[in-house]
Amino acid sequence: MDKKLKVGVFGARRGCGIAQGITLTEKAYISAVCDYDESTYENIKKYCCEETKFYTDFDEFIDSGLDAVVLTNFFHQHAKYAVIALEKGIHVLSETMPAVTMAECVAICRASEKSGAIYMLAENYAYFAVTSKLTEIYQSGTLGEALYCEGEYVHPMSHEEYVHYTPTTTHWRALMPSGFYLSHSFAPLMRVTNDIPVSVNARSIYTDGMRQEREGEPVKDVASIMLCTMSRGAVARITGWAKFGGHGNWYRFACAKGSAETVRGEEGKVRVCYNDWEIPEGCEKEQVTTVGFPFDKDKAKQCGHSGGDYFVSHEFLSCILEGRQPYFNAYRSCAMSAVAILGWRSSLHNGAEYKIPDFSKEEDRVLYENDNLSPFPDENGVANYPCTKYQLDEFDID
Ligand SMILES: NC(=O)c1ccc[n+]([C@@H]2O[C@H](COP(=O)([O-])OP(=O)(O)OC[C@H]3O[C@@H](n4cnc5c(N)ncnc54)[C@H](O)[C@@H]3O)[C@@H](O)[C@H]2O)c1
Repeated sequence: MDKKLKVGVFGARRGCGIAQGITLTEKAYISAVCDYDESTYENIKKYCCEETKFYTDFDEFIDSGLDAVVLTNFFHQHAKYAVIALEKGIHVLSETMPAVTMAECVAICRASEKSGAIYMLAENYAYFAVTSKLTEIYQSGTLGEALYCEGEYVHPMSHEEYVHYTPTTTHWRALMPSGFYLSHSFAPLMRVTNDIPVSVNARSIYTDGMRQEREGEPVKDVASIMLCTMSRGAVARITGWAKFGGHGNWYRFACAKGSAETVRGEEGKVRVCYNDWEIPEGCEKEQVTTVGFPFDKDKAKQCGHSGGDYFVSHEFLSCILEGRQPYFNAYRSCAMSAVAILGWRSSLHNGAEYKIPDFSKEEDRVLYENDNLSPFPDENGVANYPCTKYQLDEFDID
């Protein structure tokens, strides 16, 4: 046990999935759990051990001798805790999204630079077996440069499921514009093409038939369609968390010499297709392949999200042990957050273009260090930006 990393889990609902992945790697153990809702402890206990301590208070938890912390607390409150942990030299694996304001993105990047600890986004869809396979295929170079990419994350919920996961009318799921949950549609595109967004234009979809889930909740958008220009000129179209019908997630890479994509309705399959006149030696014009787990199959198949929860945990711990930066470091993770934050502003401004700053540059960061606009409530329960177009009259957003 002494040689294993000590990991703390902050937020014991989604935290269970990551705790399972962490434990199965055998590189670390869950030394502490923090949740002020003690009813959550029962489920996570199966991934804990005798040494695991349970806390309701974050300050006591974070000072309990951790090497690393997993941030699976409320969606809109990851940034503050990430900065505290980084300042203490504790490695951070943060769930979606890293930050909900531009100022928080700046703070995470500055804290990450100063800290000797690693910051990584727990973006499991970027570590699906199909995403890893598409990364390998694209980066082999046979398809040529990606010109247009698509990423869709479609997850409608029944009213009962929604209420289960959204316990109050002020819970983050009740207040979140759909584009804020973009990592499942966007991170795979970034990882496969090794590219970063430089601008975003967005349109949100509202329908007359939209339901107000509960009295007192805002009627929100069904999906946000975001168009990102990437640093090498490609255009990426992503959905955020789309709630229209037909559950699933799909990725497509249209490249100069051919295309690669996941196959709709057939989980775990990848289709690659080349132009007739540019078929590489040893390849077929069109091929559909079933992709298996790249390693640790027996462990990965026990974990949620198509094994993604195992591979994202494995990558985080490997980065710590090997002293290397993860792909979704602070800069890339915050660029993704900025697409959500500024994409939402774009959709409220008729699709206007917003530039995505380069978070590795201090001259870009100073422009946003005081930009605290957020559709989520602050510590006093008050938001300073709309979370739906139906609130436009309540805010002065110009
Ligand atoms: N990657 C994925 O596939 C995936 C899946 C589900 C959730 N998530 C992400 O994980 C995060 C958590 O999701 P969830 O569904 O578990 O959210 P949730 O709101 O249901 O649960 C958050 C938990 O954190 C606890 N908590 C929050 N603030 C706390 C504090 N200050 N002190 C002590 N406990 C505190 C709450 O009591 C609650 O149990 C979100 O960012 C979500 O987007 C990711």
